[in-house]
Amino acid sequence: MTGWRLNVLITPLRAALAAVGLAVGVLAFAWSGLFNVAATTPHWPITDWFLHYVMINSVKTRTLAIEAPDTLDSPAMIARGAGHYASGCASCHGAPGRPRSPIIHEMSPVAPDLARTVPSWEPKHLFWIVKNGVKFTGMPAWVSGSEREDEVWAVVAFLKRLPDLSEQEYARLAMGAETDGAVGGLVAIAHGPQGPAPRPDVLADCARCHGRDGMGRDGDAFPVIAGQSEDYIYDALSAYAVGTRHSGVMQTAAARIPYAEIAALAEHYAAQPRRPVVPAATPDPELVARGEKIAREGVRATGTPACVSCHGPAPTARNPAYPKLAGQHANYLEQQLLLWEKEDDSRGGGPFREIMRKIAFHMEKDDIRAVAAYYAALPPGE
Ligand code: HEC
Ligand code: HEC
Ligand code: HEC
Repeated sequence: MTGWRLNVLITPLRAALAAVGLAVGVLAFAWSGLFNVAATTPHWPITDWFLHYVMINSVKTRTLAIEAPDTLDSPAMIARGAGHYASGCASCHGAPGRPRSPIIHEMSPVAPDLARTVPSWEPKHLFWIVKNGVKFTGMPAWVSGSEREDEVWAVVAFLKRLPDLSEQEYARLAMGAETDGAVGGLVAIAHGPQGPAPRPDVLADCARCHGRDGMGRDGDAFPVIAGQSEDYIYDALSAYAVGTRHSGVMQTAAARIPYAEIAALAEHYAAQPRRPVVPAATPDPELVARGEKIAREGVRATGTPACVSCHGPAPTARNPAYPKLAGQHANYLEQQLLLWEKEDDSRGGGPFREIMRKIAFHMEKDDIRAVAAYYAALPPGE
């Protein structure tokens, strides 16, 4: 009996009319401007709770299959993450000894003090949030996040350490030997008169991570750029600046410098002596020997040519668009070769990058590791 009555009351036509009526009502409310979007009126506590509940559950469900790498305690990863945190995150989230601006406290929702909230998240949750951002909140996604998950993990490595860091430890990790004034934020540096040397304010930001001497700091946290070919540095910086070489860390750093400064920076770093680096681990002589064979002879099975004809060591002068690899950190070389394996156009900035992409794409992971170990162990002059 009741079933029959309901059937009569809720006919498909009436249900459709009700849905249309509701939609029109919502539209009319939106059109009327009666909803207050002012950030001055906070959400009702229940809305606040609900939104955060949605966010937490969304993050937890989406991270079920993610596994954190076992390198999150590596000092180099932490330093790399810290360097970027200072320029890309601290302006909203604050940092040890650097409280958030009153403007941030007027955001809705407020960008939280991560030193306090990070312990409630697992590394894989932090990874997901930093990579993807959070819709409707102002929390941005990672620049080039789908290609550079390795960089997102470096930030997670740093976030894990953040709650225990003193002001001094943070300053050293984020700025190296430079001071706070060197921290580049998210806004572009104003253009100014161009000189033969890089402007001090521009160079100071690069030096936080690469040092003024281009040798980098904290083990293998940052690639060696000292003594690299000037043309290659110029091309790499331009590619980061326009976004054709993907790295959330370097795209952020390069996009904010005046374009005219790129030449002066390239000249400065190319002129620095390239010194031997202290390897992160004692190189395995067998691996290095295998790497040398690949570098000198190539690998027939994968169609890999000898690397030495372009990257040395070679007795003749090389094309300046071919970067020097001798004395570069093994983990950096390996990572760059793996980036090309994705067969997209996310790595490389010079005119001959297509050549290198094709070579790297066909290489086996073991061969990549061996040849990276070989070039890292080679004296930097070669
Ligand atoms: C423009 C400001 C802004 C920037 C820049 C920013 N964030 Fe956020 N972030 C936010 C806001 C706002 C939230 C709050 C989101 C929410 O409540 O759901 C947030 C949330 C987070 C959370 C979740 C914290 C929690 O406990 O809910 C993490 C982790 C985080 N951000 C990390 C970072 C990192 C790392 C960077 C730099 C790569 C960064 N954020 C850059 C605004 C920002
Ligand atoms: C927050 C740390 C940080 C800052 C600041 C920074 N770099 Fe970098 N730099 C890196 C990292 C990390 C990489 C490796 C990026 C990649 O994987 O492509 C890199 C890569 C590079 C490369 C490419 C190296 C190669 O062999 O291809 C050049 C050139 C470079 N940086 C120059 C600069 C200059 C010049 C500045 C100043 C405008 C600067 N960087 C600022 C961290 C930084
Ligand atoms: C025909 C010349 C050529 C050969 C052969 C070659 N490369 Fe390259 N390689 C390049 C060029 C050009 C680039 C620069 C790409 C760009 O524009 O960023 C490069 C870049 C690289 C980089 C990135 C360096 C950095 O500082 O980021 C690595 C690593 C590398 N090559 C490894 C190798 C290895 C290993 C081999 C041998 C298996 C090899 N290359 C063979 C031309 C070559």
